[in-house]
Amino acid sequence: MEEEKGAQKVKIGNSEVNVVHPSIFNVVKQRQRVKEKLAGIKHKIGVYSAKGGVGKTTVAVNLAFTLRSLGYKVGLLDADIDCPNVTMFLNMNNPALARYPLEPLDKEGVKVISTAMFVDENRRPIIWRGPMVAKMLSEFLENTEWGELDYLILDCSPGTSDSNLSIMQLLELDGFILVTTPQHIAAINAARSGLMARRLGVGILGVVENMSDGYAHGAAEVAEILKCEFLGAIKDNKKFNELSDEGKIPVLENSEIKEEFISITKKLIKGRT
Ligand SMILES: Nc1ncnc2c1ncn2[C@@H]1O[C@H](COP(=O)(O)OP(=O)(O)O)[C@@H](O)[C@H]1O
Ligand SMILES: [Mg+2]
Repeated sequence: MEEEKGAQKVKIGNSEVNVVHPSIFNVVKQRQRVKEKLAGIKHKIGVYSAKGGVGKTTVAVNLAFTLRSLGYKVGLLDADIDCPNVTMFLNMNNPALARYPLEPLDKEGVKVISTAMFVDENRRPIIWRGPMVAKMLSEFLENTEWGELDYLILDCSPGTSDSNLSIMQLLELDGFILVTTPQHIAAINAARSGLMARRLGVGILGVVENMSDGYAHGAAEVAEILKCEFLGAIKDNKKFNELSDEGKIPVLENSEIKEEFISITKKLIKGRT
């Protein structure tokens, strides 16, 4: 087929596309700026499922602190822009960040940033249209001083649209960890997220079954659809709610939870330096 006049090959996500409309170059330029800003970060991993309530934030937070306990330098980006939960799970008292460029706040050695740090109280709903959400995400990626990190963990929002699309287009991720529960509906939504990522050229590092009864039905379903690795299961455990509500980090407080996360994390980082 004849090449369209003026078309140019550019990389978006990890795939190459022929571009004729100039607006696409904004994405390409922004991707370049993000790449330069995050040059000191070795690995970037998103924790994702299209479904809410399956444990994305729980996995992202506990994974970040497990990596920290293994001696890595870790950042945690709350990419659930309009419904941020990370700082609540971490019992951080969200002081507004007056400094610019932005600096993440330290929580026991993990660098954290969240939209919650820009609102004056937890219960206030953040009612933003897509462009504002995208702008905030851009601030976190382009204008935040992360410094040198081994791992940046992104706690993604549910859904398969705007902000997750931006993450896939703007960042060179190592890939996503998908989170499912044993439920078929959760598995289908996790698989859907994985299929979206693949469409955009972003890899799947594996699937975790959360709130598991010990059999990993949901993760098996996802692994079968996506042909991806099963990273491990996290049992349904009321300690998660109790500790999180107290603002304590489960993986630092409970030995059973710690063991589950160490096993998942070691599988995840195998082969990464
Ligand atoms: N393994 C688990 N066992 C019991 N409760 C859990 C477990 N994982 C997460 N939860 C709880 O389930 C709720 C939803 O988890 P959350 O991480 O906020 O999900 P998401 O980020 O996907 O919306 C929270 O109240 C959390 O404490
Ligand atoms: Mg969440």
